[in-house]
Order: sequence, then C-alpha cells, then structure tokens
Amino acid sequence: MATVEIRTAQERDLPQIAAIEIASKIASVAQWTEPHELDAGLRLESWKAYLDGQRPQSAKPQRIILISLVEEQYVGYLAGHLSTRFSMDAEIQSFYVLKDFQRRGLGRALLSSFLTWLDNYQASGLCVGFHPQNPYKAFYLRFGGTYINEHWIGWTDLEKLREKLQASRLL
Ligand SMILES: CC(C)(COP(=O)(O)OP(=O)(O)OC[C@H]1O[C@@H](n2cnc3c(N)ncnc32)[C@H](O)[C@@H]1OP(=O)(O)O)[C@@H](O)C(=O)NCCC(=O)NCCS
Repeated sequence: MATVEIRTAQERDLPQIAAIEIASKIASVAQWTEPHELDAGLRLESWKAYLDGQRPQSAKPQRIILISLVEEQYVGYLAGHLSTRFSMDAEIQSFYVLKDFQRRGLGRALLSSFLTWLDNYQASGLCVGFHPQNPYKAFYLRFGGTYINEHWIGWTDLEKLREKLQASRLL
C-alpha cells in the first residue's frame, strides 16, 4: 500500500505547490484558466505573498497550506485561511490534486486535515469560491456544501462536514 503523508507546507515547498497548481489546471480546468495563471514565476511570487499574509484582502492573518505526498512525491495541496467573507470563519483559497491522483481520497484527506487545523480557532463556517461551470464543484456538493451564490459554496456546520468526510477510502 502506498505511503501517504499530509503535512504543513513551508516556504521551501512553494515551488512544488505552484507546479501542482499549474499541472492540475492544465489537465483539469484549462478552459477556465488564464495564461498568466500558468506562469510558474508569477505563481511562486503569489504563493510567497499568500504565505506572508499579504493577500487576499478578506483574509485574516491565520492561514495554512497543507500538502499531500504519495511515496514522497508532491501530488496535492489545500491552502486556506480564517476569513471575514460571507460572515464565514474560514475560506479555502486554493485546492488542487494532480490529475493522475484524483478520485483516490486525497482531496477528502486534505479537507479533513484543514478542518483539524480550523479546530484551533473554533471555526464553524467555511466557504469556497469557484468558476460556476467548473465540474469539480461536485466535490463540495458531495460533502454537503450548499450554494451561497453561483460562485460560492459554504458549510455552516463543520462537524457535519467532518462526519461526511470520514466514510471514504484513501488510495
Ligand atoms: C477538487 C479536487 C481537489 C478533489 O480532490 P480528489 O482527490 O479528486 O477528491 P476525492 O478523491 O477525495 O473525492 C471524493 C469524492 O468527491 C466527489 N468528486 C471528486 N471529484 C469529482 C468530480 N470531478 N466529479 C464528480 N464528483 C467528484 C466524488 O464523490 C468522490 O468520491 P468517489 O471518487 O468515491 O466517487 C481535485 O479533483 C482537483 O484537483 N480538481 C481540479 C482542480 C479544481 O478544480 N480545484 C478547485 C475545485 S472548484
């Protein structure tokens, strides 16, 4: 059975995060991706600014990037922070798994780990934004998210979300 590790990313991991983001965008959501989003140098700068707390405006300083490794290969990440958006406590900033590793439970495991981190702040609400036509919003709906508007899905009971995330396989 493959070894799966989920850990908190450090600044030295940011090039790998930008690489996953770009590869997954090309393979999964190319039609909704602008050319500048595929520039590794720009993405690295943007990730450094995120980790330093410089963006986005709606974010509070507390934030985390969780990375997922399979047999020591970087395969996915979830970045999220405490937020003021929609009066929710928290927001998923960015969430990507490499195409070849999707549908094996890694997204579920990353989101579970994010909820564990949110426990430190007694968060009860979570939101995530997406392109309205992105078919991957099915992931959020599968785990009980409800529409805030056509660009955003949210949860107001993270205990229920945690329960839904538990009953699935990993790899
Ligand atoms: C969204 C994403 C992070 C989910 O990661 P993942 O590792 O594939 O997710 P999981 O394997 O944990 O999926 C759990 C369940 O979510 C649902 N799900 C996941 N992807 C789905 C899809 N493309 N279509 C329909 N349901 C989906 C399924 O019910 C799945 O369980 P199953 O495989 O047993 O049917 C990943 O698919 C991804 O990187 N997508 C492209 C990037 C993207 O659009 N990210 C932002 C999302 S708006």
